[in-house]
Amino acid sequence: MKKYLYSTALLILAAGCASLSPQDRLTVNDKKINKIIAQMTLEEKVEMLHSKTNMSSEGVPRLGIQDIKYTDGPFGIREENGEGFRSLGWTLDSATYFPTGSALAATWSKEMAYKNGWAMGKEGRLRGKDIILGPAINIQRLPVGGRTYEYLSEDPVLSARLAVEYTKGSQDAGTAVCLKHYALNNQETDRGSVDVIADERTMREIYLKPFEAAIKEGGAMCVMPAYNKVNGFYCSENAHLNNEILRDEWGFKGMTVSDWGGTHSTMGAALGGLCVQMTGDNYFGQALIDSVRNGALDEAVVDAKVREILRLRFAIEPVPEDVANTIMTSQPETQKIAYEIAQKSIVLLKNEAGNLPIAKDVKKIAVIGQNAVLTTAAGGIGAGVKTLYEITPLEGIQARAEKAGVEVVYAPGYKNYQMRMGWGRPSAGPVNPLVANSINEPADPALLAEAVALAKDADMVIFFGGTNKSIETEGSDRKNIDLPCGQNEVIKALYEANPNVATVLISGGPTDLRYLEPYSPAIVQGWWNGLEGGTALAEVLFGDIAPSGKLPFTFPLKLEDSPAYATGSFPGEGSGEDLFTLMYRLDATGYTREQIKEYIASLPDPVSEYREGILVGYRWYDTKDVPVMYAFGHGLSYVDFEYGTLTCKQKKDKIQVSFDLKNLGDMEADEVPQLYVKRLDSKVERAEKELEAFERVALKAGETKNVTLEFPVSELAHWDNETNGWVVEPGKIEILVGSASNDIRQSIQTEI
Ligand code: BGC
Repeated sequence: MKKYLYSTALLILAAGCASLSPQDRLTVNDKKINKIIAQMTLEEKVEMLHSKTNMSSEGVPRLGIQDIKYTDGPFGIREENGEGFRSLGWTLDSATYFPTGSALAATWSKEMAYKNGWAMGKEGRLRGKDIILGPAINIQRLPVGGRTYEYLSEDPVLSARLAVEYTKGSQDAGTAVCLKHYALNNQETDRGSVDVIADERTMREIYLKPFEAAIKEGGAMCVMPAYNKVNGFYCSENAHLNNEILRDEWGFKGMTVSDWGGTHSTMGAALGGLCVQMTGDNYFGQALIDSVRNGALDEAVVDAKVREILRLRFAIEPVPEDVANTIMTSQPETQKIAYEIAQKSIVLLKNEAGNLPIAKDVKKIAVIGQNAVLTTAAGGIGAGVKTLYEITPLEGIQARAEKAGVEVVYAPGYKNYQMRMGWGRPSAGPVNPLVANSINEPADPALLAEAVALAKDADMVIFFGGTNKSIETEGSDRKNIDLPCGQNEVIKALYEANPNVATVLISGGPTDLRYLEPYSPAIVQGWWNGLEGGTALAEVLFGDIAPSGKLPFTFPLKLEDSPAYATGSFPGEGSGEDLFTLMYRLDATGYTREQIKEYIASLPDPVSEYREGILVGYRWYDTKDVPVMYAFGHGLSYVDFEYGTLTCKQKKDKIQVSFDLKNLGDMEADEVPQLYVKRLDSKVERAEKELEAFERVALKAGETKNVTLEFPVSELAHWDNETNGWVVEPGKIEILVGSASNDIRQSIQTEI
């Protein structure tokens, strides 16, 4: 990976301090920084602690120190915006649209996560940026979560391993990451005001783990406190999260920046560990200067914030103005990485009748469903990407079919739901016959009839279902996980017309497949898969490559089975809406500022109690014996793999498990063996099993490789709420290795 090193500043830094921890490398300039601080006026210091524009904060112009420039990620450098996020209409700012978070996680590949981070960092530099607002590494607690597609996984270990690599990749390329949203921002409903109540063990073992790893191992230089409250305090002023845990325990030496509009006080935020108010200066502007001048706040607190910002400023070499933005943001080298991730992310959920890959005698394919033609880069609010191009699934299939001499016909099949009123005003344009008025609208008879006619006349049907970015979006959670706009009716009718069907789901999160499943002998999870998503999908469907993605989250049988619903802890009490979206909506409907304030003040204080505790995702379903539709880690291939007997070694503080893995098929394929640990005699509550290690392994046809999966014994620790610390409990464990969380092939017992 050396060849990816980019920033000379980092090279020099790394060479000089190889023995330093990733965080301590940030402090190598502290002497110089302290001298700079000593020369600064209080006004100059405070100028650095709030937004300058909506995507920058001030440096120290008098001393030649550059501003800090931010850009949204996490899977595409955001187009250049002015005030109010209005596009500046630049021509060179089209970026690479990378597969979204859950798609990246479905690769279960540390190498892909590194490359993704590196490519984002590289494009960030082309645009003159210092910090990418990403990766987004909150745990996918709710199947309905509006940002599930941005986040990585329901599992902390998978999230942590990928977050570490993404962080290293981006920072090696010369752009700092900003880990978001710290912490427990697992719902969009009431996200600006909800008070998340979680016990310390739940926080430490599940929700904080990816942040801890990306900070300690990845050396993340920036962290974004989230909008919500945790145990009574807004994240931007949560001294427990930001000072005691992040800085004192984890040794974080970088800077924090509030989520946009997520700062709520001057003294609270100043003492609660926030460095930069984004956006505005009502708290960290004159009010902060006054607090110091009148003796309420020690100037040393302000100095500490400036020091942390300057550490990042010196670690990240500013891109000169005349170098930035001189070529297109998206480049072939980074597009290739997006392509490679997409190839490895596609999950084959079911292939009962062997409908996939598409048989050689198929001469005519009917592609049905608007999700085959809709682009997915834009939309979803902050994470939308102005992509240089995007190959849709239909385009990918057409290009590949042409090579094979296969005819492709297409029909929309169902109407597509689009949010009429989101962050903008309702559109006044003509009514589009392909757009539904409501998400629950039943199938349109004319569209259905057209689709059925094509299906009857084709050798094979590929049905594209799923959601879109109006349905899964920042700012709101889904009301349910049902397939929208009568898709279930459509698939049933198609199957009855022609049972040679494969379904491809285009979505970022899970959907309810109970009705679709009986009519889909083959099902593929195709994600929102970046600018080459359509090409990669066609390669899988036609069998040029074997599918190798694995689910980073569970598809529950039904929403009510999922832990937060089963324990009655979601949606909880509150307005039921995202505060920011609500403000925009009221504004768009003509409310005055005063009326908006009054309305918001009248809403109940929302609370979200994480009653399921540590039993998130598969930990819940496994422990409570709740059947699921598709399990965490599930993903089929076009070949079978044989897992050999396990051998287990405990080496000092590590456990190593080795076994032979054989590709039994006649084509090259990747497998992701997963290692879970089950505690056999624990005295504390434990999940049935927990992921501890995984590896993506490439195997040629018939090839066998000896694979070693290892993890530190310290990973087996649980957080003891009584003593407030980690405890590695001695005792017996069973190590389970398999192809999915519900497909364990080998096991071995050992003792800690
Ligand atoms: C989102 C962040 C994003 C920021 C800036 C917020 O609404 O929560 O993820 O980075 O806006 O666009």
